[in-house]
Amino acid sequence: MTLLRIAGALSGLFLFQALTVSFAQTDLLSEAQAAAAAENYNRYCTLCHGENREGYANDHAPSLRSKELLFPGNSLFMFRSIAYGRPGTAMAAYREESGGPMSNREIFQMVRWLYEQIDVDPRYNENGEDGKLPYVRIEGDAALGAEIYARECASCHGVNGEGGTGTALANQVMLIFASDLFLRQTIESGREGTPMPSFRDKLNAEELDAVTAYLRSRARGQSVIQPRDSRPPTPDEYVLNPDGEDPEFGELRDGIYVPAADLNKAIEDKKRMVILDTRAASWWRMGHIEGAVPIPYYSDFDEIMGDLPRDVWIVGYCECPRALATDVIEKLRDRGFEKTAVLWEGIQGWAGLGYPIVLGEVEALDLEAEPEETREH
Ligand code: HEC
Ligand code: HEC
Repeated sequence: MTLLRIAGALSGLFLFQALTVSFAQTDLLSEAQAAAAAENYNRYCTLCHGENREGYANDHAPSLRSKELLFPGNSLFMFRSIAYGRPGTAMAAYREESGGPMSNREIFQMVRWLYEQIDVDPRYNENGEDGKLPYVRIEGDAALGAEIYARECASCHGVNGEGGTGTALANQVMLIFASDLFLRQTIESGREGTPMPSFRDKLNAEELDAVTAYLRSRARGQSVIQPRDSRPPTPDEYVLNPDGEDPEFGELRDGIYVPAADLNKAIEDKKRMVILDTRAASWWRMGHIEGAVPIPYYSDFDEIMGDLPRDVWIVGYCECPRALATDVIEKLRDRGFEKTAVLWEGIQGWAGLGYPIVLGEVEALDLEAEPEETREH
């Protein structure tokens, strides 16, 4: 996020700008882009989130205009919530690759538009700094948190976090996108203009940590969900369990796809294989299947194929749920890699089924320089 770093260095300047330039002049969208975003909002979102983004028109859809949700630095959470939806709830995935009607660019512009509607700059807070929440794991007494949850939260969020008036807090995809600090901050401050109350005066710091830890503990596969340093494996580390045996995937669906259950079993049985994460590298940093090698779909395959073994199974995955990975594995097959497969469900499906993933750093979406992950592909 070079731009943000430069912005940080120039924060004095930005503060000056914030004081002297009205926000309207710093709008990120052209008039035509804003009109298109408003039109998309009316077409796709009004039915549930309400004509004025107030929420609760249908299916207890949350407000899309509270400052506690749309704070500077939370734009990537917004992008992902719209792009991938919340499987198992009324909130669908809107991006084309996931079967939705919107391009990544349209979603990206809708996020900007949502921020502009409430006069919040998604890039900087009033001090000219990036408001992104640092990624820290909050330690707390999850057993105490469970008691607090049953007492204070279950009536709205459901006994098992399945949702009700409040959102589904045990939703596996929400738990990937929301950092611990995001959860804790939401509980502490509540969301103005919505049924979500502030617990600032009701719970002390220890209790806030406890209930946060309890929410996190419902992320299935959480035994390996830990912040890790984001160093990708080097070629000598690509092969998992080099002394293990080949996985037995049986017949692949359409000659290429392996179901999540089979891949998970192969991992549990310590089979020898390489797992490729074919998404943009920033996605790998955010969360991946343990041991996966980030080889983005736009890599130069002639250049990197020397790093990949030909006698070991290679399984690729993406988020789409499988378009990018299929493209990558086909490129490898063209180059003579025969023991290759693609994860059928993609990593979202994988996480939704409760299979383990490793979470890394959650980055803010840089809304000024369009990042690689939001580009069309
Ligand atoms: C009176 C009902 C109510 C109670 C009680 C309540 N919540 Fe909420 N909560 C909501 C609603 C409604 C939202 C969505 C608000 C919005 O943005 O429109 C929400 C949002 C949240 C979110 C954000 C999740 C997301 O999908 O972005 C978290 C985290 C949360 N609540 C945690 C808690 C916890 C923990 C408790 C108990 C300590 C609690 N809530 C108690 C109604 C409630
Ligand atoms: C059919 C109803 C429905 C439609 C249509 C819909 N949503 Fe949602 N949306 C929901 C519900 C319900 C949730 C909360 C799901 C949960 O329990 O986590 C949600 C959650 C969200 C969230 C996460 C908010 C939070 O508090 O964490 C965002 C952002 C969002 N929707 C944006 C949109 C946008 C933008 C559109 C249009 C492109 C849209 N939604 C269309 C029902 C809908």
